[in-house]
Amino acid sequence: MDYRYTVAQGPALSQINADALLVILCSDHATTGDPAVDALAQEALASRDWDLKAGKVLYLHRPVGVKAPRLVLSAAADSSAKAFKAAVVKALAAIKERDVAHLAVIAGAGLTLDAAHAQALVLAVADVGYVYRHTKPSAPKASGLHKVTLVGTTDQAAGAKAGLSQGQAVAHGVTLARELGNRPANYCTPTFLAHEAKRLGKEFKHLKVDVLERAALEKLGMGSFLSVTNGSAEPPKFIILRYEGGAKSQAPIVLVGKGITFDSGGISIKPGAGMDEMKFDMGGAASVLGTFRAVAELKPKVNLIGLIPTCENMPSGTATKPGDVVTSMSGQTIEVLNTDAEGRLILCDALTYAERFKPAAVVDIATLTGACVVALGHVHSGLFSTDDELAQALLAAGQQAQDTAWRLPVDDEYGESLKSNFADLGNVGGREGGAITAAVFLSKFTKSYRWAHLDIAGSAWKSGGAKGGTGRPVGLLTQFVLTQAEAGNAAIQARPSETSKRAKLAAKVAKPAARVPRKTA
Ligand code: BES
Ligand code: MN
Ligand code: ZN
Repeated sequence: MDYRYTVAQGPALSQINADALLVILCSDHATTGDPAVDALAQEALASRDWDLKAGKVLYLHRPVGVKAPRLVLSAAADSSAKAFKAAVVKALAAIKERDVAHLAVIAGAGLTLDAAHAQALVLAVADVGYVYRHTKPSAPKASGLHKVTLVGTTDQAAGAKAGLSQGQAVAHGVTLARELGNRPANYCTPTFLAHEAKRLGKEFKHLKVDVLERAALEKLGMGSFLSVTNGSAEPPKFIILRYEGGAKSQAPIVLVGKGITFDSGGISIKPGAGMDEMKFDMGGAASVLGTFRAVAELKPKVNLIGLIPTCENMPSGTATKPGDVVTSMSGQTIEVLNTDAEGRLILCDALTYAERFKPAAVVDIATLTGACVVALGHVHSGLFSTDDELAQALLAAGQQAQDTAWRLPVDDEYGESLKSNFADLGNVGGREGGAITAAVFLSKFTKSYRWAHLDIAGSAWKSGGAKGGTGRPVGLLTQFVLTQAEAGNAAIQARPSETSKRAKLAAKVAKPAARVPRKTA
């Protein structure tokens, strides 16, 4: 898609050469300054063919006095970028089936076009235009829309142009994340995710990608991660992405994404209804890859590490059983009371691995708990952090990107139920406050750096008729990384590492029984 910014004002607006003109108006100022467009809008309002209520759209064919053969009027609730995006999405539905190759977008009086509005436009176009087709040959043809021109004044140009570029990069990342999420688990395996990461590494020169195989993970002592793979015939992978845009001395931000390509629950098997949606259990991994896609395109001056532990969670004769005790890379032992609480088991080892980067901050992203969906529904992602500054930065990034999060507590008191008689920790607490106990579990592995956890169980995909990945929270994460780059990591500085202390602890712990590899032939 080709995005442009053009300066035009007053009577020039109706003379813009495009296949369709989209005019976004909001209630207090239903004018554009162009007499032809304004007359049409006033007439439509007077005849009650259109209304200035959010969501109302009027499609006009061969509008009088307008050069473009189509005019779409769309009402926004207010002048915010959020309302602008919603109005664009509504209007795009009206031209979706029509032969529009070039769309020009005009914001009416009172709607100041800034970077956020421009970015919202790009994300709306990408969102509406996305079609999943990888395993669906009968999917509808892609729309013919290939050029979008945003029209505004000279003084808005710089901000709007920046917003268009950022929007395109984020849209590429969001689309990648949606595409990976939607791909069925028999296509999207850990091996496939590793290939996709490698492919990104080849495409962008500031991006390096390494993949650790089972033998390397055994050597590192990732007994918790590996315990989740015991029932699966698919080999696990540990993907490491490095984007080096900052000075060598600058501490990196580390993103850790849960990459369960299918979560059957394991021996603690899930009920059948809706189990297909557990192909989306790699949404955290997808959002990390999507964020790297966006960041590699925008090239901010920052260092970014991505860690993706990825495997399947399957039942079998070799699968981990409830009550088994595993030894994590940190040295802490874990009683696997429920094999369906597998996300935290793969994340904890990745979080320990993150220590070696002496990070400025670590953010993990995971479709971690059904309890988070109960708490927050599908609007906000759950945010958990022991660090107020980091939490604030992530919340603000979410607001800015219209990809919001809501903070929940991580007090140690919630961790009482994680006590075990047979290991340092159990992997589940009670049913109540389940999203929080999961976060408290993770916090036991993050003592040496600033850390936050995003539970995206409710935001990573949609169910029902519109079932599919959302690409969230690529918008939030990309905005967070860009803001940190601009601040030169000023807000978030590395804390002294406790790695040596942890290594000593790990050395003291008993080794688990060797795992007999599953025969797959
Ligand atoms: N991937 C699921 C979480 C999930 C469930 C996300 C439903 C979205 C919708 C996770 O691995 C899981 O199974 N969590 C369990 C934890 C429980 C056993 C403590 C859950 O939420 O039920
Ligand atoms: Mn599970
Ligand atoms: Zn899971």
